[in-house]
Amino acid sequence: MMYLIVFAFLFNGCTANKVSDSLIQKSCKEASKSPGPDMIPDFEIVCIASLKENPKSQKARNLGDLTMVGANNAISNLTNVKRMVEKIIKERKYKNSLTKKLLEECLKLYSNSFKLLTSGLNYVKMRNFDKAADDFMDAGEGPAFCGLKFNGDNQQISPVKEENIVLITMFDIPKTFARDVSYEQRNNKNKKEETN
Ligand SMILES: *[C@@H]1O[C@H](CO)[C@@H](O)[C@H](O)[C@H]1NC(C)=O
Repeated sequence: MMYLIVFAFLFNGCTANKVSDSLIQKSCKEASKSPGPDMIPDFEIVCIASLKENPKSQKARNLGDLTMVGANNAISNLTNVKRMVEKIIKERKYKNSLTKKLLEECLKLYSNSFKLLTSGLNYVKMRNFDKAADDFMDAGEGPAFCGLKFNGDNQQISPVKEENIVLITMFDIPKTFARDVSYEQRNNKNKKEETN
């Protein structure tokens, strides 16, 4: 009897992982074809890897659940990059005072992105995916503008250039998922109205 229960438990666990794995693969493949992500060559790979890394995605049963995981990943990624920049400033690891000034401006941009990601996550919880997608999209301005501050003219090199590029990809994951869910919601609503 005990064996049976253990077996059932293990079997259940395996199928649950398979469901979420195929959901992740399917969703990331689909998302990689949409405008924005289609310009990021490794979008699909980063999308799949980052979602699989988060144990919470094993419980995901639909794109709405995955949007939540993607948003949480984006928030923790941003928090890590913000800490990196704070450490560079604190330990005076910057090249010159202009770099320091630009990094401080990046921190302000990051803090705005953080607010937008948190607000987007709340909209996901309320199942308002349209508003959520808008917030995730606007959050991308933080890393994008931070990167632009280090332009050729001022001869400054960003110590977090690569990190900003990754952040944009990480924000694009919940953004694209949320957009897709919001289209689905709208289509279902239209279908219902047609049959009524
Ligand atoms: C951000 O997430 C990506 C994908 O999971 C990961 O490869 C990268 O190391 C993360 N970066 C930081 C600074 O947390």
